[in-house]
Amino acid sequence: MPSFIGSIDQGTTSSRFLIFDSKGNLVTYHQVEFPQYYPNPGWIEHDPTDLLETVYKCIEEALKKFVGMGNAITDIKAIGITNQRETTLVWDKQTGKPLCNAIVWCDVRTHDLVHELTAKSELGANALKEVCGLPLSTYFSAVKLKWLLENVPAVKEAHENDTILMGNVDTWLIYNLTGGINGGMFLTDATNASRTMLMDIKKLQWSEKSLKFFGIKKCALPQIYSSSEKYGDIKITDLAGIPITGVLGDQQSALVGQKCFNRGEAKNTYGTGCFMLFNTGTEPVISKSGLLTTVGYKFGKEETVYALEGSIAVAGSAIKWVRDNLCIINETHEINNLAASVKDTGGVYFVTAFSGLFAPYWRDDARGCIVGITQYTNKSHIARATLEAACFQTRAILDAMNNDSGHPLTSLKVDGGMTNSDICMQIQADILRINVDRPAMKETTALGAAIAAGLAVGIWKSLSELDQVNCKDRTTFYPQMSEEESEQKYKAWQKAVEKSLDWA
Ligand code: G3P
Repeated sequence: MPSFIGSIDQGTTSSRFLIFDSKGNLVTYHQVEFPQYYPNPGWIEHDPTDLLETVYKCIEEALKKFVGMGNAITDIKAIGITNQRETTLVWDKQTGKPLCNAIVWCDVRTHDLVHELTAKSELGANALKEVCGLPLSTYFSAVKLKWLLENVPAVKEAHENDTILMGNVDTWLIYNLTGGINGGMFLTDATNASRTMLMDIKKLQWSEKSLKFFGIKKCALPQIYSSSEKYGDIKITDLAGIPITGVLGDQQSALVGQKCFNRGEAKNTYGTGCFMLFNTGTEPVISKSGLLTTVGYKFGKEETVYALEGSIAVAGSAIKWVRDNLCIINETHEINNLAASVKDTGGVYFVTAFSGLFAPYWRDDARGCIVGITQYTNKSHIARATLEAACFQTRAILDAMNNDSGHPLTSLKVDGGMTNSDICMQIQADILRINVDRPAMKETTALGAAIAAGLAVGIWKSLSELDQVNCKDRTTFYPQMSEEESEQKYKAWQKAVEKSLDWA
């Protein structure tokens, strides 16, 4: 009897539902985009109802395709969930309704609050780094929750009255899929919890010190589970009766989907932002080079596996900006031909610091800049500089990773939308000066949650059974540019970054 696994991938700009077979092959999927709300400069919100409804729609449409292919829904044995991380939601325990829109991970409204909190501690931005592995930044959930408590009266009141539920996207989806106010499960997994600043990274429990620092009550937060175990059965949609058995934040899910199960392996995912995760084994490594310490995955009762993370806030979203705001392309993929029509950027560098600069700089006051423009510059140079921007930031992160780990990476596994572009991946290999390794099946984020879910129900009994999953037809991009040219370009990029930081 065939077995399948469903994977809900709730991302920053779209929701998806994908179905994999027991060999990890993608059978079918459906994707729906949803609106982004920008109520003020630097603010980005999602309507929590949009997140749910697009997930339900994706389930409905993907199941239609699946059944149309001659399959039975009852052959789907488990559901995994992967999600945009840090995005923060609050809802009412009694009605199950959101108290306000979700604050999205790259929203920078908490800029002033972060500075206040940083000034309060002798350790500055590292006030809680030993506890949670993260610096104070607009990025993480706890600062967003504190902002909501201070600025939205309904949130403050519900927190005082213990009628509030606070969570990230995984928690919101699980709560609703398992029944909402009628007994819905209120939980998160350790990878998502590790992005809040509220979890003790070693104990995998909410930290009293962090809770006190931000003034958040523990009873408002979900229970922390592992990333792979039976959480509860789905109660709604045509998936009713099927258990949710895997939950991972999307970047950790890609780490699993790329099967970076050994210490020293790393992946880089180019989505809305770009995120490199490096498996550091069963001990958390506190970075000295501006990287984040995060939970990589925790499968059931197995030991926790940690990762160092380099986060870039803007990658694919810069291409959307080129399409929607500069209007020099109509479709995002057109950027590739435009970039390929010139041999280089003609000395143009684009620092896409739209939400400040994340790793390894952590400067939320940095702003985007395009430098090196001459009369000769045209839209093709800008297009190429946009692709290069994510690649140069990845180089900065790779240097930091090599510095922290002491073991220089020799090959990088990549995935995500921008990796469809051969020119972008060749630029990446040239700038990193290591091999860039791309799988044929690029849905590694969704595959990771499916793997976590499949392991919990015995579709795979151990990690070694995954050897054959997603290993065929990988493409390797080898560095072609001379070391001298690559280094000279990287130095010029670093000067451009200084301009972006100076602007503040
Ligand atoms: O930390 C934010 C990250 O989870 C968002 O991922 O794929 O939407 O860029 P993505």
